[in-house]
Amino acid sequence: MNEPILQVKDLCTSLQLEGRAVTLVDHFSLNLYRGQTVALVGESGCGKTMTALSLMRILPQPAALPSTGKVIFKGKNLLDLSEKEMRQIRGSRIAMIFQDPASALNPVYTIGNQLMEVAELHLQLYGEEAIECCLKALQEVGIPAPLERFNDYPHQISGGMRQRVMIAMALMCEPDILIADEPTTALDVTIQAQVLDLIRELQERKGMAVLLITHDMGVVAEMANEVIVMYAAQAIERGEAVEIFDHKAHPYTQGLFASRPDLKVPKGSLHPIKGSVPSMTHPPKGCRFHPRCPYVMERCRHGETPIFSIGKENDHEVKCWLYDGSEESALKLAMRN
Ligand SMILES: Nc1ncnc2c1ncn2[C@@H]1O[C@H](COP(=O)(O)OP(=O)(O)OP(=O)(O)O)[C@@H](O)[C@H]1O
Ligand SMILES: [Mg+2]
Repeated sequence: MNEPILQVKDLCTSLQLEGRAVTLVDHFSLNLYRGQTVALVGESGCGKTMTALSLMRILPQPAALPSTGKVIFKGKNLLDLSEKEMRQIRGSRIAMIFQDPASALNPVYTIGNQLMEVAELHLQLYGEEAIECCLKALQEVGIPAPLERFNDYPHQISGGMRQRVMIAMALMCEPDILIADEPTTALDVTIQAQVLDLIRELQERKGMAVLLITHDMGVVAEMANEVIVMYAAQAIERGEAVEIFDHKAHPYTQGLFASRPDLKVPKGSLHPIKGSVPSMTHPPKGCRFHPRCPYVMERCRHGETPIFSIGKENDHEVKCWLYDGSEESALKLAMRN
């Protein structure tokens, strides 16, 4: 296999909350390859956005402590770069579509100003050429009469329109890596399909790699080569998308997919997840999912849960004691299936 374009190893991020450091990204690892899409899924509050913000080094300040671990891009650990070096990468080589478009657009500048700045700063385009490039970017995300939008301020356009402007801005530089945090949630289906097509086209033409954060399993099925499932700040399952869809191994993953009305799962075969995501200030001991797990065993309640490799190729990883090969686990698994 070729080298990953982005290699994340044991990334940890903590926030100083109520006087103590709370870990919101806990030893997260990821390999992202050119032209590939990795989907990051998990319930609200599990740390998906925090992971993305850590990669971009745009964590909420002053609460966030510096992330630890490695984020290797083109041979350099992004966590070691100066803010100036990071700024050159951000937006041009690694771009992000934010869950909240308001955090990406500056309210005091017009849409045109902001797009032109990207064209000048990252693409070294000026005047007519820059305007043309911006208009094309707006057209590609389905914004009608783009020239008229140029003089609008972000608050003058609708939320869906703002999201499209942000997507246009992110894709304009044809980045090596796109981090897309819920990129299509505020969009209607036609525009959503158009945006996903645009992303795919850049992947095919330029080999853009995508880290896709989404709640929409339909989008995961359509876009992802690999899926990572996150729970309470940790990756608890990962594997090729087809493998994950066919063999959801972690009880949490099974529940997560079962609670999606957009996925056709046989009635009665899967159980939606009871309870709620634990508070990150006091995560449960042992496996963090154990208080909600229908298959909980004694050993799940304390200590670190190992990661087991399963599947035909051994490339499906799951952080769950059910896969330790013991008699008790085998029995539980047999009961489940
Ligand atoms: N600025 C902040 N200050 C304090 N806590 C925060 C802040 N931002 C996020 N958190 C906490 O960090 C945890 C992870 O949040 P994050 O936004 O990464 O979740 P998420 O997986 O992206 O959820 P969603 O699916 O709702 O977008 C949550 O418990 C959240 O309450
Ligand atoms: Mg989020």
